Amino acid sequence: MSYKLKIHHKALKVLSPLFIFDEDAILKSVKILHLIKRQTNCKILFAVKSCALPELLEIVGRSLDGFAASSAFETMWIHENSKSHHEIHLTTPALDPHYENMAMSNATHISFNSIHQYQKYAPARKVHHFHPQIRINPLLSFVKDDRYNPCAAGSKLGVSLHDLIVNFNSLDGLQGIHLHTNCDCTDLKPLLQLVDFLDGNIPDILKRVHEINLGGGYIFTGSTDLLPLYEAIEFLQNKYALIVTIEPGASISRSAAFLKVTVLDLFQSSGMNVAIIDTSVNALPEVFEYQYKHELAEESIDGKYVYSICGMTCLAGDRFGSYCFNGPLKIGDQLTFTNCGCYSLVKAHMFNGVNLPAIYFKDHEGQIRLVKEYNYNDWKMRWQ
Ligand SMILES: Cc1ncc(COP(=O)(O)O)c(C=O)c1O
Repeated sequence: MSYKLKIHHKALKVLSPLFIFDEDAILKSVKILHLIKRQTNCKILFAVKSCALPELLEIVGRSLDGFAASSAFETMWIHENSKSHHEIHLTTPALDPHYENMAMSNATHISFNSIHQYQKYAPARKVHHFHPQIRINPLLSFVKDDRYNPCAAGSKLGVSLHDLIVNFNSLDGLQGIHLHTNCDCTDLKPLLQLVDFLDGNIPDILKRVHEINLGGGYIFTGSTDLLPLYEAIEFLQNKYALIVTIEPGASISRSAAFLKVTVLDLFQSSGMNVAIIDTSVNALPEVFEYQYKHELAEESIDGKYVYSICGMTCLAGDRFGSYCFNGPLKIGDQLTFTNCGCYSLVKAHMFNGVNLPAIYFKDHEGQIRLVKEYNYNDWKMRWQ
């Protein structure tokens, strides 16, 4: 992806800050998943929680089977932005009673998070025609940070194997099981471990359901060793005749966008060079939540000029990190955070009344167009 785009490009109405989504970058990630789909005959969904941009949904929808949603609103948004052949799989800790009909009428598959939710809502499949599934927590922890570990002891996410086994006969109409067990993992071997574990512990249940969704949480790149995934899928298909689904999010959306910002001010604080830029970590919330450090395209690892790059809100921790440059920064310099497409816009907010970056889309032909810009009214609408 080229970050060399100058902010004075004639198609840019808002000059900075701005997200640029890049069709070629999206196509590159989708191509890997499409290959997996062709080679294994599994179903692949895009997890919209990571990015809900309609342009992204449109491109992904051309080659994948559908979308994974986390709420009634996401199911509605997907319904409005997808084609009739696309599946919409909803997985949520609880259906919101105010929007349960919206969720059930849009979703083609719903994975319920508890025995109670299953028993309450699964009978409605006869009216709304969705496939009822249940989410399982196998308590197999692959993620060290419990804030991102769906399988930690005490996790709210899914039914234990014990509860599933005890209640299985009361789950009328159960079509499948859902497991999301990892986060940002580039090694696919845990999937094989998971499948071995299920085979060892619930073979009778695997024989009696029709579908298994292995969730998201894995990053697929050109250099990923796909063999563990292929083995896991083939095993479930051959031994249990299961329809296997995966639902990656970040793997598609992370590399889809970069964020251009401008340096507004420069000064020293206790001997440290500080650069204030025209956005905040609230445009890339995982910087604060997850201590995620985005690469800066302009950084030079051996550069002698070190700056603390900070956002423009009052929060002391509104800081993107320390970056090295070959020369001193100047007010007005443009900087480019890369890999900004996932869990950014979907979580972004206007704390302190700091506007959100505009969103642009660069298509395969190199044409750039404005998708959305925000202004004072967007902030005001929250309060009136
Ligand atoms: C149930 C479920 N499916 C899919 C995903 C997508 O995960 P990722 O974006 O890490 O691939 C998540 C992320 O939290 C999830 O909770």
